[in-house]
Amino acid sequence: MDTKKKQNGIGRRRFLQNASKTALSLACFGFAATRNTFAAPSFAADLADPAKHFTTPQIETRRLNNGISMPVLGFGTCMLSGPSCSNYVAQAITCGYRLIDTAKVYRNEEAVGAGIKQSGIDRKELFLTSKLWVDDAGKDKAKKAFQLSLDKLGTDYLDLYLIHRPRGDVKGSWKAMEELYKEGKIRAIGVSNFEPHHLEELLSYASLPPAINQIESHVFFQQGAASENLNKLGIQMEAWSPLAEGRNSHFCNQTLKEIGEKYNKTIAQVSLRWNYQRGIIVIPRSSKKYHMMENLEIFDFVLDDDDMQKIASLDLYRTQFPEWE
Ligand SMILES: NC(=O)c1ccc[n+]([C@@H]2O[C@H](COP(=O)([O-])OP(=O)(O)OC[C@H]3O[C@@H](n4cnc5c(N)ncnc54)[C@H](OP(=O)(O)O)[C@@H]3O)[C@@H](O)[C@H]2O)c1
Repeated sequence: MDTKKKQNGIGRRRFLQNASKTALSLACFGFAATRNTFAAPSFAADLADPAKHFTTPQIETRRLNNGISMPVLGFGTCMLSGPSCSNYVAQAITCGYRLIDTAKVYRNEEAVGAGIKQSGIDRKELFLTSKLWVDDAGKDKAKKAFQLSLDKLGTDYLDLYLIHRPRGDVKGSWKAMEELYKEGKIRAIGVSNFEPHHLEELLSYASLPPAINQIESHVFFQQGAASENLNKLGIQMEAWSPLAEGRNSHFCNQTLKEIGEKYNKTIAQVSLRWNYQRGIIVIPRSSKKYHMMENLEIFDFVLDDDDMQKIASLDLYRTQFPEWE
């Protein structure tokens, strides 16, 4: 144990475990994490600055089909807004996140941009994703929407721009994105929520294939077939809601809990590690610094075949977000 840990009387790992276990007990007694996160017990965040005990983990990157590299783990910002969103983004960057995921429809691009500024990080250190909403489908509208996203985010380029949903004039949107890519305004272009038939259609006219398909993927909706199809096409899969947003009692799941105990890891870490071991990029969201840090600590253990099988058996083969269908 180093001097700092001795002085503070608590190690980083122990701190994270205690904070997480207490939060988990609350959640399992009915305060389950939902879209509107429950009023946070501020105990853990206020106890001490956990960053004092935290060594920023090195986040691996993956090479996309256009040759650029993208972090395998990032920070999701859906449902975050206003000054608190800016604070969370700045905190996440301080914790070590470099991939930040936003979208026009989250209505937080300005707040995300402010958070990036607040963090003091060099823009080039970040991998910034935003998404084109369905109202802006079509070549001209897509270009205008892209510029608006840049202005709100306070940047002059995006690392990744995705068609958020396969609706409207996808062909026109893709054309706009290809042009913006060729002009050097976007480093990689991709799609989100595209099913195999949507991809097939897009590939029939695209001059550039999508680098990414961002789709729902977590232990309860594993998307095995989609993942295989994307691998075949050389398109990187990225998982949205990798923690199922806490739905279906995710953070109380007994199988994940038992697996976590083997490695001294939390349910969230097991879930994220499982997707990572399947070659999938994850973007968990959190409004708590100790969760942000916990979610980064997935690179120092390996789930064995038996664990992977057990997690495979949790698949319910259906979305946990039926309201978006
Ligand atoms: N392309 C799309 O259509 C689409 C759709 C949905 C989402 N997304 C993207 O994917 C990102 C992630 O998905 P999501 O935000 O829906 O949900 P998520 O990341 O699966 O789950 C977020 C929830 O998990 C909790 N949490 C996070 N870390 C935790 C931990 N270590 N222990 C316990 N609880 C933890 C958070 O609560 P605390 O705040 O209390 O930590 C929050 O309630 C989004 O933010 C967005 O960027 C994209």
